[in-house]
Amino acid sequence: MKLGKVILLTAFVANLLFASETVLIKEMKNMRDGMNQINDGFFYHKKEKIIQGLKLVKDANKIFKTQADVKKYLPKKVKHMFGLSYSTAKKIDININKMEKLIKQDKFSKASDTYVNIIKSCTSCHTIVRDW
Ligand code: HEC
Repeated sequence: MKLGKVILLTAFVANLLFASETVLIKEMKNMRDGMNQINDGFFYHKKEKIIQGLKLVKDANKIFKTQADVKKYLPKKVKHMFGLSYSTAKKIDININKMEKLIKQDKFSKASDTYVNIIKSCTSCHTIVRDW
């Protein structure tokens, strides 16, 4: 009985860890897809694609709404870096909003500068996460 409980509890915890990892990976893939759409939108001059891509990245970035959310998704050995990582996610939000306005005004050149800044934010967090 006791062993049964331990096994159940272990399975439960493993499940939780697995669930938060798959949410992270799923949303990271969405971020990547969104960024690729934006990129194609610029290359092929498809405004609608840029707008769709921005929405995808914005929605995916919702997993990093608070500092506590970011902490949950960071690997164990860099969990203490949640403050800095959170600020990279926050910057993504700010720059997406900025890009949405620029695209509406057909300011593609300025919008592409902002796009580059978003890529920099992705890399900033990955630098922390991956010990680059
Ligand atoms: C707040 C931190 C943070 C930000 C910001 C962030 N990521 Fe990630 N990303 C992670 C973590 C954590 C992982 C998982 C660990 C790893 O792959 O090193 C990850 C992994 C990934 C992966 C690999 C997924 C897989 O299948 O293994 C991709 C692709 C990715 N991120 C894309 C992006 C893009 C695009 C952006 C910017 C729009 C971005 N990320 C911004 C934290 C972040």
